[in-house]
Amino acid sequence: MSFDPSHLRTISVNELTSETAEIEIDRLIVEINSHDKSYHQKDAPVISDGQYDLLRQRLLAIENAFPLLVHPDSPSGKVGAVVKSGFKKIKHSRPMLSLGNVFSDDELQDFADGIRRFLKELKDNPSAPLEMVAEPKIDGVSIALRYEKGILVQAATRGDGAVGEDVSENAKTLKDIPKNIQDAPDVLEVRGEVYMTKPDFAKLNKAQEKQDGKVFANPRNAAAGSLRQLDSNITKERPLSFFAYAWGDVSKMPWDTQWGYLECLKKWGFKVNPLTSLCSDIASLLTAYEKIGHERATLPYDIDGVVYKVNRLDWQERLGFVARAPRWAVAHKFPAQKAETILNKITVRLAAPGC
Ligand code: IVH
Repeated sequence: MSFDPSHLRTISVNELTSETAEIEIDRLIVEINSHDKSYHQKDAPVISDGQYDLLRQRLLAIENAFPLLVHPDSPSGKVGAVVKSGFKKIKHSRPMLSLGNVFSDDELQDFADGIRRFLKELKDNPSAPLEMVAEPKIDGVSIALRYEKGILVQAATRGDGAVGEDVSENAKTLKDIPKNIQDAPDVLEVRGEVYMTKPDFAKLNKAQEKQDGKVFANPRNAAAGSLRQLDSNITKERPLSFFAYAWGDVSKMPWDTQWGYLECLKKWGFKVNPLTSLCSDIASLLTAYEKIGHERATLPYDIDGVVYKVNRLDWQERLGFVARAPRWAVAHKFPAQKAETILNKITVRLAAPGC
């Protein structure tokens, strides 16, 4: 009798042997790679973000339990998508990294405790405040905009985090992306999220349907598909928006906190998310999470969590990065939104006899 590996997907990690763990790792890698391709290259995901997170968490858990079985090219070590062909490649001056996730108040507390243990002045003084900025996690496509002497000279998608795609001409068509900025450092790379609002997404899909064009699964995929057009005239017709929240390469930093940077961004004419707040303790981070979570259903754009960032840059620098994610920031994910599908019609096709 042949061995059916598919039953392994239901077995808990601590019940796996090294033989079955190896088979399960191979299966998860194939599955995750295929979902990465659907999501990033075809802009057409087949499972929800929550289901995808579960696959990655299971792979990580098995790899942690069986470190000798970790594949050198395991997706757990990858940041994002491979670069779609057709675009000029751009190597990022500083890698565009990912964020670690927390899913509960306790995990957030562990994250903050880790920072306090790392920074001596906070370890020695547990009542010293650890200020953090809470920002909505926009569900869009991240982009890096390079300004030289105040002029937008290049725009790149994240790609695999190290190398992205040159979407300069496309980015220049977005109303929220300033083409010129005043009083900025000579070299300034602004990073943020290109997204599509829900009403714009509905309108676009209706128009696409009418013209027999591609219908997108969600606003994120519509944003990605619209930004990554080889013809920038098509992007120009697509209703894309942008929120700025981070930086890459900079020649001089006239800010010393994340909050100060957001103030500079506004001054330069970028949109900064209005639900962003400066928090002095865990309780106020959780209040921000509740407030943003409460507004989520009525916001005109998709968000999938709240990002907390250590406000002080000198602390961010000392905390640094681990496994391609900053130690100074984390994403507090929302539980997957429940959706109801109304099935209007079922068509049954009967196969001809013998088929
Ligand atoms: S900060 C070093 N802030 O989330 C990390 N990211 O999982 C810099 N995102 O690639 C990212 N909203 O596409 C940051 N307010 C926000 C964000 C945000 C959405 C996305 C971004 C990033 C991904 C990380």
